[in-house]
Amino acid sequence: MFEPIARFWRTSIKRFGVYDKVVPFETTPSRLVPDHIVKPDYVTNKIVFITKKPEIKDEEQIKGMRSSCTLASNILRKIHPFIQPGVKTDEIDELAHTLSIEAGAYPSPLFYKGFPKSVCTSVNNVAVHGIPDLRPLQNGDIVNVDVTVFFNGYHGDCSKTFLVGDVDDQGLHLVHATEECLKQAIDVCGPNVPFCDIGMRIYRVAKKNKLTVLPAFVGHGIGKYFHGPPDIYHTINRYPGLMKPGMTFTIEPVLSHGNENTVILDDGWTVVTEDGSRTAQVEHTVLVTKDGTEILTK
Ligand code: MF3
Ligand code: CO
Ligand code: CO
Repeated sequence: MFEPIARFWRTSIKRFGVYDKVVPFETTPSRLVPDHIVKPDYVTNKIVFITKKPEIKDEEQIKGMRSSCTLASNILRKIHPFIQPGVKTDEIDELAHTLSIEAGAYPSPLFYKGFPKSVCTSVNNVAVHGIPDLRPLQNGDIVNVDVTVFFNGYHGDCSKTFLVGDVDDQGLHLVHATEECLKQAIDVCGPNVPFCDIGMRIYRVAKKNKLTVLPAFVGHGIGKYFHGPPDIYHTINRYPGLMKPGMTFTIEPVLSHGNENTVILDDGWTVVTEDGSRTAQVEHTVLVTKDGTEILTK
């Protein structure tokens, strides 16, 4: 369909493709969580013990991680068919929020360090931590939806970059290459593999695709805590340590067509690329097993 207004808004930067450069828009109030939903420590002011070193989980803890991660990925799967031109990211937030509550889980982003919404939705040039708002998604947008739930005492964290209608070739390439980075990074993981090998591999795949890894964003250990050790760098790094069976962490590379630099906007959350280039991100929570890895958010 011919959309004269949308065409007028569209930023056409030859180098980076054809898309709208987005800026934060009007939002709605934070959503309510019923009393019976168990809240994480940062909401109730309880203190959760986070080890200094990456935690090795026992069978019981792994079971907890499996159930929270399965729920997070099921919610992300249910969001997928809902995404189309005209849908507002605030409506994605509402859906994710409702699905979490219905499952008996707390949507982890809500009030985490003051974040006001239940998921992060990052459109086009927004790299991460986009706040869901009332801007209707436009044909050609790419939007990352990052779902984390706190369920049975454990967080499960995953995200995916979705295509809205017809996305230009450069956008498709960006999304597909980012998925390839995550896939290859997971293939690298296993017992006694250095954490820093993850970043090395992602860097290589990105480079082959003439894309840039944004170095500011790292994956993280996860469990009863949302973020803990180890830090998982997505580019060349010298972070120490080896993976051991029972460790659970996320891998969540962010790639762009442009340079490495990002800017945090005045809302304190929205991170955009400095040069306006689009970014794509994908995230899984993984478990190191005795002979490889298991994707918990499959
Ligand atoms: N889910 C994000 C991650 O992958 C964290 C979001 S923090 C929030 O680590 F406060 F922005 F929700
Ligand atoms: Co996440
Ligand atoms: Co994460």
